[in-house]
Amino acid sequence: MKGMAERTDRIPLIVDVDTGIDDSVALLYLLARDDADVVAVLSTAGNVPTAQVAANNLAWLELCGRTDVEVAVGADGPLSTPLRTTEDTHGPQGVGYAVLPEPRLRPSERSAAEAWVALTRERPGELVGLVTGPLTNLALAIRLDPELPHRLRGLVVMGGAFDYPGNTTPVAEWNISVDPEAAAEVFAAFSDVPHERSPIVCGLNLTERIILTPEHVRRFAELAGSTPTESISADDRPGTRSTASNRVVRHVSDAVRFYFEFHRDHAQGFIAHLHDPFAAAVALDSTIARYRSATVDVETDGRITRGQTVADWHGLWGRSSNAQIAWETDEKAFLDDLITRLAGLARRIERQS
Ligand code: BDR
Ligand code: CA
Repeated sequence: MKGMAERTDRIPLIVDVDTGIDDSVALLYLLARDDADVVAVLSTAGNVPTAQVAANNLAWLELCGRTDVEVAVGADGPLSTPLRTTEDTHGPQGVGYAVLPEPRLRPSERSAAEAWVALTRERPGELVGLVTGPLTNLALAIRLDPELPHRLRGLVVMGGAFDYPGNTTPVAEWNISVDPEAAAEVFAAFSDVPHERSPIVCGLNLTERIILTPEHVRRFAELAGSTPTESISADDRPGTRSTASNRVVRHVSDAVRFYFEFHRDHAQGFIAHLHDPFAAAVALDSTIARYRSATVDVETDGRITRGQTVADWHGLWGRSSNAQIAWETDEKAFLDDLITRLAGLARRIERQS
C-alpha cells in the first residue's frame, strides 16, 4: 500500500474473494501489475458457494500461468446464518458467460482462516489484506488469533454503503449483507489498530462510480491485439459469446457481458460497476483515492436495517475511528489504467501459450 507505507517494492497481498465477475477482473488486474505480489487467494462463500469460488480462482490463476499461488477454501457459509448466493448477478458459475478451462491444481489443505493466520505470522507487518467478498474468513481467522489485525500492513475491504443506498436491501451492500456478524467482528477487531493502518473501506458510494462500458471492453481488446473488434451491444441476443482471438479477452468479455445484462435488467444501464477491481487498485496504491475517517459499525439486529454499515463521522459514539472510507477518486484514470494493464496481461499470456 504505497500511500500508507511509502514503500516502492512489490506489495505482498492476501486476497480474499467470492469470485464473482468483478472479483475475477480484480484478480486479473492484480496479476497484471508487476508491483503486486499475490501470495494467496482465499475463497469466501458469497456470490457463489466456496468450492465454486475456489475453482474459479484456480482457473483464472492457471489461465495466467500462476500455478505458484496458493488457493485456499473458506467456510461454507456465514458465521451464524444460512448462505445466500447470487448467481443471477454473476452467472451459474460466478463468471458470467465465461467457460473457463477446468483447473488441474487443487486448493491447499489448510482453510482460508488458517492461511490468514499462518501467513501473517510468517510475515508480520508485511502483508496487505484485500477482501472483496463477505468478511467470514477474516472474522474466523481473527477468532483463531485476535492479534492478527496488528500483523497486517494494511487492509482494504470492498463493502458497505456510506450515506448511500444499498444494493441488496435499501440500506445494505451485498458483501456485508451476506455476513453482517463477520463484518461487525472485523470492524470491532480493528478498533485498536493505529489510525494509519485502519481498514480502508470501498463502499458503493464510490464503487458505483466505477462504471465499465462496452467501449472499455472494445479498447481493452484492441490494446491486447485481439481480433476481430470486440463489440458488445445492448442489442445483442443475451448470452452472445465472444469470438476474440485472445483467450483472456474472450473470457473477460464473456464474463462482463453477463454483468452488463444484469445491470441493464436492474435499470442501471448497459454498464457494469467494477467494485472489486477498484478496491484492488487501492490495496496497491492508496493515494488514488481520498478518504474520510469514521467509526464504522454494522447493524446485525435491525428488522429492516440488518447489514447496514453505519459511519459515525463526528465521534458521537465516543469510540475511536476504525476505518478510512474511500470517498473520491479519478474514475477515468482508474478505468484507463485497468484496461491498459489487463490488455498487457492478455497480450503476454497469448504470447506465452
Ligand atoms: C460486491 O458484491 C458482489 O456481488 C461483488 O462481487 C462486489 O464484491 C458489490 O456489492
Ligand atoms: Ca466480490
